[in-house]
Amino acid sequence: MNIRHAAIPDIPTIARIINHAADYGQMLHRSPAYLYEHIRDYQVAVEDGPEMRTMGVCGLQIIWGNLAEICSLAVDPDFRRRGVGAALVRACLDEAHRLGIRKVMSLTYEQRFFEKLGFHVVDRHELPLKVWSQCIYCAKNRACDEIAMIFEHADVPDLTPASSAPADERYVMPVTLKVRGQRTPGRMSDPQPGGNPADAWEHD
Ligand SMILES: CC(C)(COP(=O)(O)OP(=O)(O)OC[C@H]1O[C@@H](n2cnc3c(N)ncnc32)[C@H](O)[C@@H]1OP(=O)(O)O)[C@@H](O)C(=O)NCCC(=O)NCCS
Repeated sequence: MNIRHAAIPDIPTIARIINHAADYGQMLHRSPAYLYEHIRDYQVAVEDGPEMRTMGVCGLQIIWGNLAEICSLAVDPDFRRRGVGAALVRACLDEAHRLGIRKVMSLTYEQRFFEKLGFHVVDRHELPLKVWSQCIYCAKNRACDEIAMIFEHADVPDLTPASSAPADERYVMPVTLKVRGQRTPGRMSDPQPGGNPADAWEHD
């Protein structure tokens, strides 16, 4: 198997693999437009041999100076349980290490899989609010049951703790929310203790 950065010709296959998993509620659907914009975040696992079929895909999205997120990790059902998912996550962890990012997080239902790769469960409220910016696209945004997990590169210094970010950058992010048939800007505030961070979205 060869793990490499994704390129434009990979997009139809990446979309098929991700959206198949999304049909089962395991992740968010991704449109071609989204994939064109974010293609540099993705790596693919390609089969050795003449057909060179794409076996799986995984994204690494940078959240902040000390945090990145594993996203859209999906292995084609024909290739599961052969080490493809683990190889993709390790490639993304290597990428985070190369970039100098200490922590890599995942929001997942696959706790055992990520534990085997050195991730541990954390309280989701420890994660910065920016992580929840995609929740408006999720049908479960008010009833999120994903498990928050983190991997830490012990040898990478934590140079940019979340608390060093200016308040307006940490908590106020322009997004577009659909409100009463109109698209209006929204912002995030602190979540209620014990509540779903996605509930922190405010709009006029
Ligand atoms: C989760 C997923 C990416 C795993 O990929 P995979 O290629 O099948 O996993 P691997 O073969 O690399 O497994 C690595 C290890 O995790 C274990 N593992 C994999 N899936 C597991 C599961 N669902 N439960 C428990 N252990 C699991 C494997 O047995 C293996 O253990 P080993 O190292 O002791 O042999 C894949 O099942 C998938 O695409 N699922 C649908 C999408 C999804 O849920 N993605 C996760 C979103 S965060």
